Amino acid sequence: MDTLKDLLPTRLFEVLEKAGICTTKQIIILSVWDIKKLTNLFNDDIKLLKNILSNNCSPVSISGNSLEDKNVAVKTGCASIDKILKGGFRIGTLTEMYGESGSGKTQIALQTAVYCGTSGCVFICTEDLFPVKRFNQISQYVWHDIKDTECKKNIFIEHLTEAHELISCIRVRLPKLLKFNKISAVILDSVAAPFRCENTNYVQRAEELKELAILLLNIAQEYNIAVICINQVTACFTGSDDVLPTLGLVWSNLISCRLKLTKTIDYRELTIAFAPHLSNAQGAKFIITKNGIEDMENILINK
Ligand code: GTP
Ligand code: MG
Repeated sequence: MDTLKDLLPTRLFEVLEKAGICTTKQIIILSVWDIKKLTNLFNDDIKLLKNILSNNCSPVSISGNSLEDKNVAVKTGCASIDKILKGGFRIGTLTEMYGESGSGKTQIALQTAVYCGTSGCVFICTEDLFPVKRFNQISQYVWHDIKDTECKKNIFIEHLTEAHELISCIRVRLPKLLKFNKISAVILDSVAAPFRCENTNYVQRAEELKELAILLLNIAQEYNIAVICINQVTACFTGSDDVLPTLGLVWSNLISCRLKLTKTIDYRELTIAFAPHLSNAQGAKFIITKNGIEDMENILINK
């Protein structure tokens, strides 16, 4: 960083030096009146001094466009989904994906884990065991032989079924792992299962969910990681066919983004339920093939 002598006009620097004002911090902190009292400089000179120094030590400003160019997302590898998510799952945030059974939640999660590649991923299963065969199938297609092995070295898998086990894993073991390994995404498939058991103590459940969400959010922010939580659905009380995400208001208020998955006979679709940085105007259509999740448009063009 430049010294005061390099930054200021010689005339002003000499007056300040005589008055014993020798650091940038002093000039910024002292009021115009204080500097005037110590140096006898004119108000305009003092303002000039303050402007020069504050411009010199202010943070570099970056535009929205350059922010988007930076590596702020973990991609899914499906072009239409990555497009509407502006690159993929945003790092530093907690994203929830919900949808009915078979809508493709686990497939998107698996493909995202594959695309993390050498930048590492933690995959916590709470329902079925980790689908190793399917992961290998997608990984082989995406990375072929060379990177496939490396990709597998960088995925950490855990299977937990109880809420207290999950919370203790996120609180104690996960940060230790993150300190010593490069990880870009933590995936939880699903967050609902451990909390949907016959536990009728709803206050305790809400407290545990709150703790889990806060822990995950802190991890996302502290380690610059995309945290992706899969949620299940519950029927709508109004009697319509639509479904709602489970886990209630406490959970909903703590997540940063919510994505909804739906399925029709021909395709599946991801839409944005809410996300501060995304537009929810349109959805991303995709299909599930042996290679993973693929952009519906691409498949139609290639046909
Ligand atoms: P739940 O876990 O039951 O809530 O559903 P989910 O949303 O996680 O569904 P998942 O992501 O497991 O997607 C299920 C769909 O993916 C199935 O209906 C199949 O169509 C497709 N699928 C799953 N595994 C394979 C596979 O190995 N090959 C192919 N081609 N498709 C698969
Ligand atoms: Mg699933």
